[in-house]
Amino acid sequence: MSEETKILLEESEIPQAWYNIQADLPNPLSPPLNPATKKPAGPDDLAAIFPMALIAQEMSTERWIDIPGEVLDIYRLWRPTPLFRARRLEKALQTPAAIYYKYEGVSPVGSHKPNSAVAQAYYNKKAGISKLTTETGAGQWGSALSMACRFFDLECTVYMVRVSYEQKPYRRSFMEVYGARVVPSPSRETESGRNFLAEHPDSPGSLGIAISEAVEVAASHPDTNYALGSVLNHVVLHQTVIGLEAKTQLAKIGVYPDVVIGCHGGGTNFSGIAFPFLQDKFAGKKVRAVAVEPLACPTLTKGKFLYDLGDVAGFTPLMEMYTLGHDFMPPGIHAGGLRYHGASPLVSRLLHDGFIEARAYGQTDVFRSAVLFARSEGILPAPESAHAIHGAIVEAMEAKEAGEKKVILFNLSGHGYFDLTAYDAFLGNRLDDVEYPAGVLEASLKSVPII
Ligand SMILES: Cc1ncc(COP(=O)(O)O)c(C=O)c1O
Repeated sequence: MSEETKILLEESEIPQAWYNIQADLPNPLSPPLNPATKKPAGPDDLAAIFPMALIAQEMSTERWIDIPGEVLDIYRLWRPTPLFRARRLEKALQTPAAIYYKYEGVSPVGSHKPNSAVAQAYYNKKAGISKLTTETGAGQWGSALSMACRFFDLECTVYMVRVSYEQKPYRRSFMEVYGARVVPSPSRETESGRNFLAEHPDSPGSLGIAISEAVEVAASHPDTNYALGSVLNHVVLHQTVIGLEAKTQLAKIGVYPDVVIGCHGGGTNFSGIAFPFLQDKFAGKKVRAVAVEPLACPTLTKGKFLYDLGDVAGFTPLMEMYTLGHDFMPPGIHAGGLRYHGASPLVSRLLHDGFIEARAYGQTDVFRSAVLFARSEGILPAPESAHAIHGAIVEAMEAKEAGEKKVILFNLSGHGYFDLTAYDAFLGNRLDDVEYPAGVLEASLKSVPII
């Protein structure tokens, strides 16, 4: 195995096309449904909030979709991202496993999110849109879209989940530097927000409510569209640059992973790293893919595979996915980007059909692994990404027990330099494992529409 610590690519090796796993799915996705008619939703159902180019990508079964030159020009600001061999972490764990991680925190905003934000801003600009609305949980997606909108001269309004708005005031300032307007959600600016606040005045907010607010504004203004940071097929598509680069990097040193790991919020950084390897799995190669989520929001491990809405107010199409029920209110854990009731339909389909695995861990274990990672490798991980680190450490310890030289690849989706309140709470022993209250799932699943 190679002695290198950092495997780098040339700018000329940035992928020129995104990989669309819909071309290779053993079982195709069930169609999204119009929430009013419950009939399959066509392009027209989505045209009020998305440009046609993205709607086409959402539905495409072409295996490769070219990345436009203007998007590649912006990708070049931080791509290709480095792939590291985590030698110091391996040593700390005394594991025979080889651990590699792809680091997306080198993007200007600190995560994988601009891989899609730049593409979405580009297609909206081309369609003549002048303003985008969105939600943000951790603040990473909001920052990415704020930057992308600035690059393409679009206005941007971000509905930021209130608990994150309060936990991370500097993420708000960061978005404002790019010129975005940031509104804590639920807000009084929208009907969805006002209705929700009337019933839950002290709500910490959720991605589901913030999405309703952003979609409501986009759907009622012709010059405005909506951009989603996760879940949807086209967002998954854009993130495949991560895994495509990682494959090239590992091939350079003659390595192929036994297991590929990503944290899971709505499913895009996990898909981004894993789907290019799943293409090989469908062709017979032996490789596992593991999505890691918080115990406090266990969509993949405790949710049900059903048609559900993507938001609380019911503006989005119904999608077949693992869901905890669209009115599930996740506890205010520090991994704000993983507090979503649903999952990408693509990830859901693959989990349902047994091609991928899912694990859930509590936040104190996750933070313990994050601190070990920082003390070994130097990088302070985002709390979301720390779930992938913890998943990798669990795999590495299993390898140690079995005396196995397993090759582990995980995606370090972002850095945690805006998340120091969370680290402060962990180091001060003020971080609890938020219990997932029994009966809550049963109650929230009652909100799932009957199809
Ligand atoms: C750093 C980071 N990783 C992961 C996620 C989860 O999103 P996804 O599952 O779409 O990658 C987020 C979401 O905000 C994030 O900020």
